[in-house]
Amino acid sequence: MRVVIKDSYQILSVAAAAEVAQAVRAKPNLVLGLATGSSPLGIYQELIRLHRVEGLDFSQVTTFNLDEYVGLAPDHPQSYHAFMREHLFQHINVPAERTHVPVGISEDYVAYCRSYEEQICAAGGIDLQLLGIGRDGHIGFNEPGSSLGSRTRLKTLTAQTIEDNARFFDHPEEVPRFAVTMGVATILDARRVLLVASGKKKAKAIARSVEGPISSMWTASALQLHADTTVFLDHKAARKLTQLEYYHWIEQQAAEVSP
Ligand code: F6R
Repeated sequence: MRVVIKDSYQILSVAAAAEVAQAVRAKPNLVLGLATGSSPLGIYQELIRLHRVEGLDFSQVTTFNLDEYVGLAPDHPQSYHAFMREHLFQHINVPAERTHVPVGISEDYVAYCRSYEEQICAAGGIDLQLLGIGRDGHIGFNEPGSSLGSRTRLKTLTAQTIEDNARFFDHPEEVPRFAVTMGVATILDARRVLLVASGKKKAKAIARSVEGPISSMWTASALQLHADTTVFLDHKAARKLTQLEYYHWIEQQAAEVSP
């Protein structure tokens, strides 16, 4: 795992967005895996800026989102469909038919989740997957105990995740308890992974996931098995890592080799 530590959320977002932009330029029909939540917002703002100012072209890009809350229709203001429209899709030139966000309402979730996996395969697999991380180490909504071999499926959210999400809903009873989420194995299939985390609330999850043993209790730790994962952190999210000096040293050396 490559660990990149930046001075602020703003700086790490610009650095991560630069990697996404470079991937889109290198492969205009990139298959991009997307996340919601507060972590990728800075990346999305920078991608929108690059689209407007430098003409970064998303017209051939295909996107697949990680997850959606069960019970929320695409036009629900707190749905991840709405989040993606508001924070990214409506500001760039990605065709709507190339964007995929799991549905939150289905008559047959098992069949639907299988079809989501099939759509990812039919698109050629995910080239670059963006991730945030939950305080409990979840990626997507793969909560502690999720099989590291899991695929897209219905998942029961933990009390902590429900509590973390409650701020977005007017009444506690409205907060969804289930999600449709890509599985850990779905995420590990991506050719490249970029995970972003900021703030001290994420420090423990980052330490467990980056330096702890691989365990389904911290599903992000499965990324240690992935050959091309970069973790972008601010100092607060990085503060419980034990190898900080080494991570900085690696980045310094890399800059010298390719300034
Ligand atoms: C969102 C997702 C989640 C979030 C995580 C962190 O699509 O898959 O894993 O990335 O809950 O959320 P924030 O970024 O809001 O702290």
